[in-house]
Amino acid sequence: MKNVYILLSVTLVIKFTGIAGQTFEKLAPTPPMGWNSWNKFGCNVSEILIREMADAMVESGMHDAGYQYIVIDDCWQSGRDNTGNIIADPERFPSGMKALADYIHSKGLKFGLYSCAGSKTCQGRPGSRGYQFQDARQYAAWGVDYLKYDWCYNEGQDAKAAYKTMSDALKQCGRPIVFSICEWGDNKPWEWGKGTGHLWRTTADIRDCFDCTLNWGGLGVLQILDKQAGLEEYAGPGHWNDPDMLEIGNGGQTISEYRAHFSLWCMLAAPLMAGNDLRDMDESIRLLLTNKEVIAINQDTSGMQAFKFLDYGDLEIWVKALSNDEASFCFLNRSNAPVNLEFNWRQFGLYHFSFANSRFNLRKNDYQIRDLWKHKNTGTTADVLSASIGGHDILMVRLMAIDK
Ligand code: GLA
Repeated sequence: MKNVYILLSVTLVIKFTGIAGQTFEKLAPTPPMGWNSWNKFGCNVSEILIREMADAMVESGMHDAGYQYIVIDDCWQSGRDNTGNIIADPERFPSGMKALADYIHSKGLKFGLYSCAGSKTCQGRPGSRGYQFQDARQYAAWGVDYLKYDWCYNEGQDAKAAYKTMSDALKQCGRPIVFSICEWGDNKPWEWGKGTGHLWRTTADIRDCFDCTLNWGGLGVLQILDKQAGLEEYAGPGHWNDPDMLEIGNGGQTISEYRAHFSLWCMLAAPLMAGNDLRDMDESIRLLLTNKEVIAINQDTSGMQAFKFLDYGDLEIWVKALSNDEASFCFLNRSNAPVNLEFNWRQFGLYHFSFANSRFNLRKNDYQIRDLWKHKNTGTTADVLSASIGGHDILMVRLMAIDK
């Protein structure tokens, strides 16, 4: 009898570990979609703001379009109690994080928090260094579904080891939690992030501009895009390159620049974390963020990230392979002036570029071309594509199998 019992417990332990590991691996089969407080609100976060944002995510149609995580970035923490438990700022979050998580879950959404591998967060709040397992258990008890984990005050730690510690803590905390690595690409997280986290920032922080570099290192859309070329081989289901959160709707760019920003992030299989005020969106911004045909490119289950196929200086062509041997093409005009595009699919596109990416497998027949912003079929790959693309704008099309 005793032997049977021992055997049974060994089997159970093996099964339990196996399931926990499996769950973590499967948490982000497509790029996570949600909203994060940082880009618009900085430290000005509170439970009222977060509840209103959850309401707005549902009412605006964002949830219906696929967005689900509501993530509070830096500044929700005010200290630790005398047993080391992390405390949410009681003035800004008087009902506590559990109640807020319950509210967010009641709307069918998921709840995310931010912490840091260092002793302090970037805004000087308590970091998780030395408290990783205790914090992970606390997040699980509150009902957290997503953790963004930063790299300020890291005090010379080894990044790979520091992120693995928090990853281990999350894997053992008893609740599935998506792990977002945010060390700004400093230690090539694409080389070690898979299995540790589900996404990793590849660059310094985004700024709400299309073409700019700030002297402290902040980057515009084009500057971030340039750093993604070559990283495509590291992305796939459950492990994504993260070119930072969206600035769409924050006021610093034109609508065509925002359209290009969104299209490119979808092409890059980037996590789509809206960073604007969802309670107060112009209809043009709402339509942009909820374009389901463009989002479908981002969420394609094959999980391929676009690669830069052709580079003519001001005009670039990015291609993302999709499931069922389909593909999406993005023609990007980086300049301020319009460009006239003449693109011969048969010469460049179809029969000559399967070789450009071994993961790309095109059909022999011609495709239907669908303009994903006009929501119209605009010809086939038998025709030469002619289009005028405005300054800082894009043309984004899907190649759809004709026999569909
Ligand atoms: C870093 C991160 C940002 C944001 C801030 C918060 O700069 O890269 O995304 O989380 O910290 O302080």
